[in-house]
Amino acid sequence: MKAWRHAPLLLLAAAAPGGKQIVLHGNGNGALPCAACHGENGQGKPSTGAPALAGKPASAIVSALNLMAAGQGGTPLMRSIAAALTLDERQQVAAYFSSLPKPSP
Ligand code: HEC
Repeated sequence: MKAWRHAPLLLLAAAAPGGKQIVLHGNGNGALPCAACHGENGQGKPSTGAPALAGKPASAIVSALNLMAAGQGGTPLMRSIAAALTLDERQQVAAYFSSLPKPSP
């Protein structure tokens, strides 16, 4: 019985992908893979209009996501992606992007 009580917790942990996972594959909950537009290495993609995120301070990325999730700034699509991320997931993707090397110009 005890093991069963912990099952929901395990499911929660499995459903919370790390930053890299979300960037490459989305969060499975409405947030599209960031890499599709921002590039696999966060280098940005001129063809999509998505700016580089690699090497940016995590705090700057989180506040941009928080603003967009609140409906301020960004495109409607980017707003809905930001809103589909939990606060925790925003911090995870921000930490991942900031850990990547800045793209060379
Ligand atoms: C469908 C394409 C697309 C996807 C997918 C996408 N983005 Fe974006 N994102 C954009 C575009 C275009 C912009 C620039 C225009 C704007 O601000 O909305 C942008 C802007 C941003 C900004 C603001 C950057 C700045 O300097 O102000 C952040 C932060 C961001 N995206 C994070 C993410 C994260 C994290 C994900 C994945 C969870 C993601 N994006 C997925 C297209 C996308």
